[in-house]
Amino acid sequence: MDMQRIPAREGNHNLQNYEDVRKNFSWDNVKRNFSWDKTGKVNIAYEALDRHAENPDKKDKVALIYSAPDREENITFNELSKRSNQFANVLKKYNVKKGDRIFLFLPRSPEFYAAFFGILKIGAIAGPLFEAFMEQAVRDRLQDSEAKILITTPDLLGRVPQEDLPDLEKIILVGEHQETGDQYIDYTKEMENASSEFSIEWVDLEDGMLIHYTSGSTGKPKGVYHVHNAMIQQYQTGEWVLDLKQDDVYWCTADPGWVTGTSYGIFAPWLHGVTNVIRGGRFTPDDWYKTLQDKEVSVWYTAPTALRMLVSNGDDLVKQYDLSSLRHIMSVGEPLNPEVVTWGLKAFNLRIHDTWWMTETGAQLIVNLPSEEIRPGSMGKPIPGIEATIVDNEGNEIPPNQMGNLAIKAGWPAMMRAVWNNPSKYESYFINGWYVSGDSAYRDEDGYFWFQGRLDDVINTSGERVGPFEVESKLIEHPAVAEAGVIGKPHPERGEIIKAFITLNTGYVESPELLEDIRQFVKTGLSAHAAPRELEVRDSIPKTRSGKIMRRLLKSWELGLPTGDTSTLEE
Ligand code: WT7
Repeated sequence: MDMQRIPAREGNHNLQNYEDVRKNFSWDNVKRNFSWDKTGKVNIAYEALDRHAENPDKKDKVALIYSAPDREENITFNELSKRSNQFANVLKKYNVKKGDRIFLFLPRSPEFYAAFFGILKIGAIAGPLFEAFMEQAVRDRLQDSEAKILITTPDLLGRVPQEDLPDLEKIILVGEHQETGDQYIDYTKEMENASSEFSIEWVDLEDGMLIHYTSGSTGKPKGVYHVHNAMIQQYQTGEWVLDLKQDDVYWCTADPGWVTGTSYGIFAPWLHGVTNVIRGGRFTPDDWYKTLQDKEVSVWYTAPTALRMLVSNGDDLVKQYDLSSLRHIMSVGEPLNPEVVTWGLKAFNLRIHDTWWMTETGAQLIVNLPSEEIRPGSMGKPIPGIEATIVDNEGNEIPPNQMGNLAIKAGWPAMMRAVWNNPSKYESYFINGWYVSGDSAYRDEDGYFWFQGRLDDVINTSGERVGPFEVESKLIEHPAVAEAGVIGKPHPERGEIIKAFITLNTGYVESPELLEDIRQFVKTGLSAHAAPRELEVRDSIPKTRSGKIMRRLLKSWELGLPTGDTSTLEE
């Protein structure tokens, strides 16, 4: 098979010699870039904001270019540092302490970023929630984390459960509202009265900073717990993979409710003191090209789903914009189709660099580096300091060109340190000293990794990770639904779509209206991206004798594949 290969791009990239650096690299040396090397003190908020605000050459540099349909604002490092100090003082007033969980349920907005850093500055743990979540999704996360304070808007408040949250003491509301209860705090009023001086809480590298909830194949979403130490890898990948330079304008399209939106939408650019574009509002191809053009974006981190939509909108559209500032593009979240890479060469005259990592890994691990050849369809090679391999089910390494479980030698800097309240789940990720990802892949003789699929039932729809169990649980709450089995079905633009097989309770008859009602029920109860696009009514759902839904069998039926071992199937 003769693969098209794309040679390294000319130019002076931050990581010029992969093999050499790989041989001599030690993460310990990266720590020297940060102040604790001198002071023994650390806080990621200091390294990402205050350090630049204290620097006369940097303090008036624009940190955040905020752009939404109804609002434009440029905020300097100094200003953002002050606003986050104010917010930290608000939290202090309400008795927030180091280690408390403070959740954010906010649209992407300047207030989000001030609050987020205020939380970190007081040594608390931030929990950003995706703004599209509905009540059940919000409840599950606030309950599991035992969150003490929630920051949200009056618009989103309707989706915040009003009971069953014994630990939640206060709700801070951003925006005009009529709420009068004791539990509500007015953001604007409090910020006006808060000092912009705050003495930051110095913490340990291993102290918590962030929880992102993510879905597995069973159970409720899990709280993936990250610590300040993650900054070491976020900084280093910012240098090598994002290839950041001081005069760059960087744009990461991910929402901070997902890990890409924090590790690379916040930390990596700001640890480097680079100007960061945040775009509010929803995706449209025109707006995205316009943002790239008007903000003169030079480094862009996005996702295959978005790129596929740009492709399907055609070459004429992209030609209407001046994208001459753009010099580096990356992608994450799903397999990056070789056709999209080919299109990128034509449309932008640039390579699109695939990157592989996960919520649990905290930062990029396997990537296409600017200085390396790209083999379209491959995620690339592990960054220096990372050992990746393919293992079998017992955690033994297997030779090149054989499919198995993609695994990383445990102990990299940004690795999750716990699954919140769930130590056995955390331990289940590790075998033989390897972190086992759940992705199937192979490695070729030259060390390039090739993604093949998920080994578990986790669904990846438009780059968003959905656990079938959550959707099934919501479906059976609907009065008409008796049982449900949920799978991911391949889809050209979205990667996968969610397909649900259901059985109906007696007294209910299948009709388009009923199916639409069930779909809406999941959409309004859980979230839009978790609602099944296809629903199929069946007489029964295949289960094992122990009562587990056999999703694999449903999938084989759906795709017309051989069904494999069905010996555990219930009669
Ligand atoms: C899963 C992790 C942290 C990135 C955002 C997603 C899939 C991620 C790639 C890629 C093929 C990819 C994997 C992985 N995935 N990047 N470059 N090529 N698949 O984070 O929601 O935790 O999902 O996304 O299946 O396990 P996530």
